Amino acid sequence: MWKTLSILLLCLLLEPSWSRLAEDITYSSLDNCVTDHCFHQPAEACPSPDSKCRCRKLPYCKSAAVCCNVNKFQLTEGLACANISGNGHVESLHIRNASLDILNVEDWRKLKYLRYMTITDGQINSVVGEFAKHTIVSCLNLSSNGIVNFENRSLVNLYNLSFLDLSHNNLSDVPRFKKDGNITLDISANQHMLCSNLFDALKRTELHFSNINNSFCLFARTFHWFNTTETVPLTQVIGTHKLRKDCRKNCTCEPSRLDLVSGKQATIAVAVNCSGQSWTSLPSPLPPNTIALNVSNNNITSLELFSTDSSYQNIRELYADNNQITSILPLEGSQFLSSFAVLSLRNNKLKSLPTYIFSNILDRNNYVRYVFLGLNRLQCDCNTAKVLKVWLLTKQKNIPDFEEIYCDNMDMKVIDLNPSKLCQTQQDWTDYIYYIITIEVVLLVGLIAKVVYDYCVFKTSGYLPWPASKMPKLPCDWLCE
Ligand SMILES: *[C@@H]1O[C@H](CO)[C@@H](O)[C@H](O)[C@H]1NC(C)=O
Ligand SMILES: *[C@@H]1O[C@H](CO)[C@@H](O)[C@H](O)[C@H]1NC(C)=O
Ligand SMILES: *[C@@H]1O[C@H](CO)[C@@H](O)[C@H](O)[C@H]1NC(C)=O
Ligand SMILES: *[C@@H]1O[C@H](CO)[C@@H](O)[C@H](O)[C@H]1NC(C)=O
Ligand SMILES: *[C@@H]1O[C@H](CO)[C@@H](O)[C@H](O)[C@H]1NC(C)=O
Ligand SMILES: *[C@@H]1O[C@H](CO)[C@@H](O)[C@H](O)[C@H]1NC(C)=O
Ligand SMILES: *[C@@H]1O[C@H](CO)[C@@H](O)[C@H](O)[C@H]1NC(C)=O
Ligand SMILES: *[C@@H]1O[C@H](CO)[C@@H](O)[C@H](O)[C@H]1NC(C)=O
Ligand SMILES: *[C@@H]1O[C@H](CO)[C@@H](O)[C@H](O)[C@H]1NC(C)=O
Ligand SMILES: *[C@@H]1O[C@H](CO)[C@@H](O)[C@H](O)[C@H]1NC(C)=O
Ligand SMILES: *[C@@H]1O[C@H](CO)[C@@H](O)[C@H](O)[C@H]1NC(C)=O
Ligand SMILES: *[C@@H]1O[C@H](CO)[C@@H](O)[C@H](O)[C@H]1NC(C)=O
Repeated sequence: MWKTLSILLLCLLLEPSWSRLAEDITYSSLDNCVTDHCFHQPAEACPSPDSKCRCRKLPYCKSAAVCCNVNKFQLTEGLACANISGNGHVESLHIRNASLDILNVEDWRKLKYLRYMTITDGQINSVVGEFAKHTIVSCLNLSSNGIVNFENRSLVNLYNLSFLDLSHNNLSDVPRFKKDGNITLDISANQHMLCSNLFDALKRTELHFSNINNSFCLFARTFHWFNTTETVPLTQVIGTHKLRKDCRKNCTCEPSRLDLVSGKQATIAVAVNCSGQSWTSLPSPLPPNTIALNVSNNNITSLELFSTDSSYQNIRELYADNNQITSILPLEGSQFLSSFAVLSLRNNKLKSLPTYIFSNILDRNNYVRYVFLGLNRLQCDCNTAKVLKVWLLTKQKNIPDFEEIYCDNMDMKVIDLNPSKLCQTQQDWTDYIYYIITIEVVLLVGLIAKVVYDYCVFKTSGYLPWPASKMPKLPCDWLCE
């Protein structure tokens, strides 16, 4: 009696697991339809159009279901009639052609077994809400829905997420994910994606991309104006991100602007900041595509590399304030000098300013170039007062700190120099030359007048006046006679 009862009890206990096992066996010969780590069904898998329920469990895939052509209301209804939202053990779900406007992920909290979630080929404007903490979704495919934005925290609780397909939407930003870990992301065919947002996303998480060759983003064409943009391949953004991580030692590399050279693909140029390192010479080589270099607050003495180092030839902006640079002559003939936008050499050791090296350059190409030279102490003389001062006054637009350039040998600003005082001695000397010239001219005129007078007297009276008459005969006089 006890024996039969215990066997019966055992059978009762085992029964559910036996039936579960039976279910497992039913599917074990078929796969769970997950390919490439994600679940995706063709339109043919949809419930037939005359079916009352818009969702169905797939007979040939384990724990998988498909819903098609639904709006928000029809979706809720479909999930219920196909036993998905109850305690239906669904791991894979594909919803095709959902017209939702807003997708609230909090509606999915009941589907706690869901591992592969695919909502594609529909119309969804934005994704809101927040997935529940212990959601185990590992692949989320939201491709081809025209999604414009995600709420900040929508995806942050997806700790098991490793594949995220956001291709063919209208996103301009990459949503935030969990902090750690490793996600493969597809952002191809989002025509308004901004590169600046991608840079931020790459900083936040480690990202791998699929469909990289079809992924692009928009980059501001010029430095400050964000109204004109250029399409840049994602590979460029990744390359620049790598550069930023492995910049020169003790320097930072930041994406700066697009370098547009006709005939070449637009490249993202970087601004390199190596300020405050106590360096005594310019760094070399610079990272590729360096367009701006900041070496302020060092002890650099020479700008020689600008004409000798090829990694310096793309530079348009140089900030080298607070250094020991003694001369700008090494810039002469360099690529930098003919194409620069900013040259900042405030508080250096410049002794002279050979203005000729800037001739015809400062206003070239329709953009204003800026040169900052304040707090340098030049060797001043009459020439500084006469030429440099005038030059500075005519170039005020290009040299905004022209009033801060000082003299080293006198306590004065260059623009306060008084030419009539500084050039005193030279003035006297110049006057003296004028006197000599005047005297010479007077003497010459007198001589010509005397010769003419002598000739006239000789013609009319036949004798030569003094002193010609008293002159001894010269050999050539005999020749004349
Ligand atoms: C998408 O679903 C709507 C109904 O919600 C239907 O009218 C439309 O034809 C469907 N589109 C496709 C491509 O199946
Ligand atoms: C849903 O489950 C109930 C019982 O739990 C069952 O009667 C019904 O047929 C199921 N519906 C579908 C579509 O599988
Ligand atoms: C996501 O869905 C799109 C559109 O249906 C499909 O082309 C793509 O292959 C899917 N992605 C993955 C990783 O399965
Ligand atoms: C979303 O994130 C952005 C950028 O981090 C922030 O400016 C914004 O305030 C956030 N919005 C909310 C609602 O938290
Ligand atoms: C989800 O991730 C956690 C740890 O991050 C892991 O323990 C768990 O097994 C994962 N679940 C699935 C279903 O992969
Ligand atoms: C995509 O988004 C941009 C703004 O981000 C908008 O101007 C454009 O009309 C949208 N395109 C579609 C097809 O919704
Ligand atoms: C991240 O994932 C990619 C592919 O999914 C793999 O190749 C790589 O090794 C992973 N990296 C880490 C740190 O887990
Ligand atoms: C992307 O394009 C590059 C060259 O343009 C090619 O070498 C690479 O194999 C392509 N990658 C893929 C995944 O197609
Ligand atoms: C961009 O803005 C600048 C100044 O704000 C303006 O001069 C320029 O015309 C604008 N360009 C376009 C394409 O709108
Ligand atoms: C970088 O900075 C660190 C700390 O200031 C210093 O010890 C190191 O020598 C510097 N390296 C170079 C190449 O200047
Ligand atoms: C350059 O770096 C210095 C110190 O590292 C920092 O103070 C300065 O703001 C940076 N300049 C720019 C333009 O990023
Ligand atoms: C530059 O060198 C001088 C000594 O020649 C030193 O006193 C000064 O601290 C250095 N400046 C910087 C910024 O390293």
